[in-house]
Amino acid sequence: MLFGRWVAVGVLGAMGLAAHAATIKKQPFGKTQGGKQVELYTLTNSKGVEAAITNYGGILTSLKVPDRAGKLGDVVLGFPSLEGYLKNAPYLGALIGRYGNRIGKAKFTLNGVEYKLPKNDGENTLHGGPKGFDKVLWTAKEVPNGVELTYLSKDGEEGFPGNLTVTVVYTLSDDNELKMDYSATTDKDTVVNLTNHAYFNLAGEGEGDILGHLMQIHADRFTPVDAGLIPTGELRPVAGTPFDFRKPHAIGARINDQDEQLKLGGGYDHNFVLDRKGAGMELAARVVEPKTGRVLEVLTTEPGVQFYSGNFLDGTIKGPGGKVYQKRYGFCLETQHFPDSPNKPAFPSTVLKPGQRYHTTTIYKFSTEAAR
Ligand code: GLA
Repeated sequence: MLFGRWVAVGVLGAMGLAAHAATIKKQPFGKTQGGKQVELYTLTNSKGVEAAITNYGGILTSLKVPDRAGKLGDVVLGFPSLEGYLKNAPYLGALIGRYGNRIGKAKFTLNGVEYKLPKNDGENTLHGGPKGFDKVLWTAKEVPNGVELTYLSKDGEEGFPGNLTVTVVYTLSDDNELKMDYSATTDKDTVVNLTNHAYFNLAGEGEGDILGHLMQIHADRFTPVDAGLIPTGELRPVAGTPFDFRKPHAIGARINDQDEQLKLGGGYDHNFVLDRKGAGMELAARVVEPKTGRVLEVLTTEPGVQFYSGNFLDGTIKGPGGKVYQKRYGFCLETQHFPDSPNKPAFPSTVLKPGQRYHTTTIYKFSTEAAR
């Protein structure tokens, strides 16, 4: 009886600990061009895993996870200080909105009204426009195991209709899961597609290219693109193409194949149509770095994931460890609705109406594997 009570107390104690696994440290991270104070929130779980998030652009600036020997390494690309993020052309670690990826010809029609957007990628709008959610200051609040970021994107901002109230909660669990929970409401019909643009290198930031990482994506189909990287509307089977990652393949194994789609993307820069059983949280991708044994699993409620092989990285950025990021030194797995959905009626809808709540969740889960 007494023993039973102790067990119960012990279990409850452990549960209590589990519910409040991460400690949170807040530090000043510099000032915006407008002189506003920016903060950096560092979440640390009981295993020493550490995720740093700034309220400037909701950016994940570093993520330290163990290799198979237990050695921590920063597995996301970043800048040494806020200054780099103020430009952040490649969107390192950024929270992307109001519309992740491209909207073709920088316009879309909703309820018979045409909305024109600023162009920032040739003829198209990329990642919400020149001043997307990655370049605004979010209001931050500490929550159990994490930080909650909120932002009001005003009606007409970057051309989009409706006052959009956005909340993104980053939490870190003791199971080495970094969770991103996105929600939004609007006062006018609009389109929304939020994601995170972390560039991973599971060997550690700056530790060479990612071509030896083994990538698995649970997708039977992908959305081929035109020369402007806008989906053509086709959902093409991956079978028999270099886009078949249903079984793990090294990212570099087929990246230089004679393939029209790889040529258009300069490598992989494509949306994969995830095989889903329902609307819940499902495994989208699993990546293994053979030398360190680090494993990343991406779980999501989203229908798609943009696999981008860091083709535009060009040696102009130096990371916090002083190493230069060359082409393909990082890859992104941006969970999302499909690019250009506002102009593709057959794609899953990205329309949000007043009274509805946009809600998606993505998890980056880390573990290790024994040597193969
Ligand atoms: C996304 C796009 C890419 C590129 C990167 C940022 O992944 O699909 O084409 O713009 O963002 O450089």
